[in-house]
Parts: sequence; C-alpha cells; structure tokens
Amino acid sequence: MGLGLWQHGSRLWGGEGSVERLAAGLSIALEEGLNLLDTAEVYGWGESERLLGRALKMLGASDSFVVVSKVAGFRHGESDIIGAVRRIASRLGRAPDVILHHWPPPAWASVCRVVRGLERAVSEGLTGDYGLSNYGEGLLARALECQRRLEPIALQAQYSLAYRTPEKRLLRMAAEAGMGFMAWSPLAKGALAGLRRPVSRAQRGDPVFKAASGDERLQSTLRGVAEKLGVGMAEVALAWLEARGAIPVVGWRRPERVRAAAVAARMELPGWAVEELDSVSRVYVDLWGDRYRPPSEPLIRLVPGLAQRLLLSLVGGI
Ligand SMILES: NC(=O)c1ccc[n+]([C@@H]2O[C@H](COP(=O)([O-])OP(=O)(O)OC[C@H]3O[C@@H](n4cnc5c(N)ncnc54)[C@H](OP(=O)(O)O)[C@@H]3O)[C@@H](O)[C@H]2O)c1
Repeated sequence: MGLGLWQHGSRLWGGEGSVERLAAGLSIALEEGLNLLDTAEVYGWGESERLLGRALKMLGASDSFVVVSKVAGFRHGESDIIGAVRRIASRLGRAPDVILHHWPPPAWASVCRVVRGLERAVSEGLTGDYGLSNYGEGLLARALECQRRLEPIALQAQYSLAYRTPEKRLLRMAAEAGMGFMAWSPLAKGALAGLRRPVSRAQRGDPVFKAASGDERLQSTLRGVAEKLGVGMAEVALAWLEARGAIPVVGWRRPERVRAAAVAARMELPGWAVEELDSVSRVYVDLWGDRYRPPSEPLIRLVPGLAQRLLLSLVGGI
C-alpha cells in the first residue's frame, strides 16, 4: 500500500499544504507499518517534495520510508533528467529511492534517451531504482526494448474499480517485465470512498470521478460489501486492487485516511466480495477504450517539452 502526496501543496487540491498535517499522517503510517510514499516534481511545482522533506526531518524519519518521486515527462534528455533528480534530492533532503518518468515524452522524442537518462541516474547513485508512469502498452514495449543496463522496477498507471482498462493488457505486460504495478487514483479521487460531489478542482475535472460518483449500482454494492465486512468503502475499493495484484497509491489530506489505508493493507477481501465487485464494475473494463491512455494524452505528446515546462511553471505545477 502506497500513500500519495499529490494532495500536499498542490493548488488543484486546495492550495497550500501543511507540514504538520503531513507529519501527522506520516507518523500514523510509521505506527501502522506503511512505508511507501509517492510524490513528483510537478506536484505544486516542487512543494509536495519540499513539504515531505520538512516532515521527514521533523519526525527524524528520513530513512523509514521508501520515497518514489517522478521527473516530468517534458524531460527527455539524459542531462535534463539527471539535473532534475539532483534537484528532487535537494528538496527531499535525501535521495529518492525510486524515480519514475511521470508521463511519456513528446511524440517525436526518443523513448530510449529517456531510459538511458533513468538508467544513468541509478548507476550514478542518485536513486536506487527507476520506473515509468502513464506509459501505455506500445510505449512500454518500446521502453522495455531499449532498456540496456538496468531493469525498471515499477509501472505507475491509473487503475481502480471505475477504470479497469489496464486489465486488458497493461497489468500483464508489467507483471511479465517484473514491474510492480502502482495504481494511481485507486479511489477515483474519493468517489469510491462514497464522495458524491467534487470538493476540489482535481475532482471537478476528472471524468472517472464523475462516472464513479454517479454510478448508483457501484456505490450501493461498495456500501453493502463494506457494511458486511465492518469497514469503510475506501478500504474495500483498495483491498479489491490488492486482490488484483496492484499496489494502490492512495491520496489523502486528512491524516486519519492513513489509518484506513492500513486497514485495507491488512485485509484480504473474501472471494464473494471480489466477485460482486468484479461484476458490478465490469462496464469499466471497456468504457474508457481498448488501450491505456492517461487523461493528458494524446494532446500533451504533441506539445514540445519546453512549452510544457513553461506552461506548468507559469501555473505553479499541478
Ligand atoms: N502518475 C500519475 O500520473 C498520477 C496521477 C494522479 C495521482 N497520482 C498519485 O496517486 C495518488 C492518489 O491518486 P489521486 O490523488 O488521484 O486519487 P485517490 O487516491 O483515488 O483519491 C484521493 C482522495 O480520496 C480521499 N480518501 C482517501 N482515503 C479515504 C477514506 N478512507 N475515506 C474517504 N475518503 C478518502 C481523500 O480525501 P481527503 O483529501 O479528504 O483526505 C482524497 O481526496 C496521488 O496522491 C499521487 O501520488 C499519480
């Protein structure tokens, strides 16, 4: 079970973050034995990483977590990637354990150069391992073909009861390549925990949130399973992902969410519950298309890296 830190310091999730709130959640994680954290250089344009660095220092817990961060997809040259990993380390106050390429490079850029840059970050000791994020089936195959020195250890992609496209091929491809599958938006931004109305810009702009929050059958099945098992809806939705072999990366602002994530991590969903959830969410295997396509695609891949960088820096990241 991973804990997502996009919510900390991002304007799309309500702006300023609080180091005290983040530290409170992390100390619950320590008590509960959760140690996987996920952040990115574009979350609040570095603010999520800065807050994490301060919270880890405050708790004296820098070595107690596995920290995953991501270099932006607009970086597709080796030295740009290396420079970004160094800056991530300086914001975190320690080297990241794993670096992912956050989204695929522009359509005309070389995927192999990206992989070379990530491999170099590992071999220079700037990070322990590397992986990819939001690479669909074709791009993942290309990246795996050009990997030369080191194998990527993780693939991060959207996956939940309300977005099941990865089951078509991507999950299998990751497993065959020996990559752990980190599922982002495991709760469809809170909708699968029972939230029916958006409370942030991130949720308002998300079609998967809209679909899941308005799906009465899915909502009532989740509620029914949760009541029978004596847990919350979020725990059930997260445990379903674990039953499917994924590692959910759950986002949170309120520290008590970390306690619920730990309950889910310890839970094993009974077979009848997995079957009921599989069946009520079957429509989401096909609804979003035949292949994995992150929300920003295909538009972002047609924008030159420099323009992506300028745009994101002007708006203060995501
Ligand atoms: N690689 C990528 O491109 C990518 C894209 C998106 C996200 N991510 C990563 O994945 C993480 C999670 O994805 P996400 O933020 O899109 O969505 P998510 O985890 O599906 O949903 C997060 C929301 O769920 C709510 N929640 C969490 N636990 C809950 C519980 N027990 N009961 C009720 N509500 C609960 C949180 O509420 P509160 O805010 O009220 O606490 C939060 O607003 C992010 O933080 C980020 O690290 C990666």
